[in-house]
Amino acid sequence: MSPIPPPFPEFKIALLGFGNVGQALAELLLEKKRDLIAKPGIGFRVVGIGTGTHGWAVDPRGLPLQDVLDACRAGGDLERFSSSPIHDSAGFIKKCGADALVETTPVNYQTGEPALTYLRDALRGGMHAITANKGPVVHGYRELSSLAHRNRVHFYFESAVMDGAPVFSIARCGLPGAVVSGFSGILNSTTNLILSRMERGETQAEAIAYAQSIGIAESDPSGDLDGWDAAVKVAALATVLMDIPLTPDQVQRTGIRGLTPDLIQDAAEKGQRWKLVCSAERDSSSPLGISAAVQPLLVSPESQLYNITGTSALLEITSDVLGTLTLIEDDPSPRTTAYGLLADLLNAFRN
Ligand SMILES: NC(=O)c1ccc[n+]([C@@H]2O[C@H](COP(=O)([O-])OP(=O)(O)OC[C@H]3O[C@@H](n4cnc5c(N)ncnc54)[C@H](OP(=O)(O)O)[C@@H]3O)[C@@H](O)[C@H]2O)c1
Repeated sequence: MSPIPPPFPEFKIALLGFGNVGQALAELLLEKKRDLIAKPGIGFRVVGIGTGTHGWAVDPRGLPLQDVLDACRAGGDLERFSSSPIHDSAGFIKKCGADALVETTPVNYQTGEPALTYLRDALRGGMHAITANKGPVVHGYRELSSLAHRNRVHFYFESAVMDGAPVFSIARCGLPGAVVSGFSGILNSTTNLILSRMERGETQAEAIAYAQSIGIAESDPSGDLDGWDAAVKVAALATVLMDIPLTPDQVQRTGIRGLTPDLIQDAAEKGQRWKLVCSAERDSSSPLGISAAVQPLLVSPESQLYNITGTSALLEITSDVLGTLTLIEDDPSPRTTAYGLLADLLNAFRN
């Protein structure tokens, strides 16, 4: 006898990458399972979870999410949960049988790989492709969007910039017909936290060590300190919001290494703060059609940026119709990033 189908659509999802963000998404799915069935009437089954060094598991009946989370946190391998053997990520994507692939593998600023290939394979296989990874947005936005369109699925990436804050959905759904002329803001949480702690008297090395101890800075923090992470976000926003394909190396970039405790204290005595500011604006005199920069700037209390402290972020979007629209995100975490992925999944399934 075949099982009675549930009275609501149940979507199958596969998670490729199961670190901070992938696990936070699994927790959110467990937490919201009942709410999502009640409203908007959508059920989920996680049919695949893949990692870099802890193996892959697929099961069309649905994986026991809490048990997989517990096993992963204990450092165990996922293979014992798999209903069939999987040997690599390409095989995982082919065999998982999901309606949507959620990709959360580490970012590659230079090429976007291997995430770009994973998302391309998922779209070619008829799955929605959802990612928190900036790399494939910068290096593959147009290609992946048109591939999604041809295959009648969606490529969504809300969490790639400002974690779960709805930056890209505002542009996609809330600004039809508007021309975005530029944007500016604070988009790198790690450097903002480091600068905030230096204002309280820490050296840069002490502030970096603190950011590493709470898991927001990597063991090699140069991607944040040298402004690369911010430059990739600027490139992603320019590419998507302004429709000007921009690569991170085309963003004029200065990081925060040169900001000494003396400079920071001098600024404080004048009632100012140093901030790593991201900006871009259309520029007909540039061959790229845009000027974009990441640079430390002194800001005064009259600026909205002055009160953006710790890991918080701010983005001002300027358009021909709404003037300046500001989005502020307070103290993001892997849970907020996970929410951006969940919102993408719901939007993909509802659409
Ligand atoms: N952390 C945040 O709050 C945040 C916010 C916004 C965006 N993001 C983006 O989200 C993504 C994930 O971040 P995270 O903090 O969750 O990273 P993470 O904790 O390092 O987790 C990465 C996961 O990807 C797996 N992985 C590594 N290489 C792989 C490969 N080649 N194929 C398949 N899986 C692979 C890892 O498996 P192993 O552990 O077995 O190697 C791990 O499960 C990144 O692109 C990041 O930039 C993160």
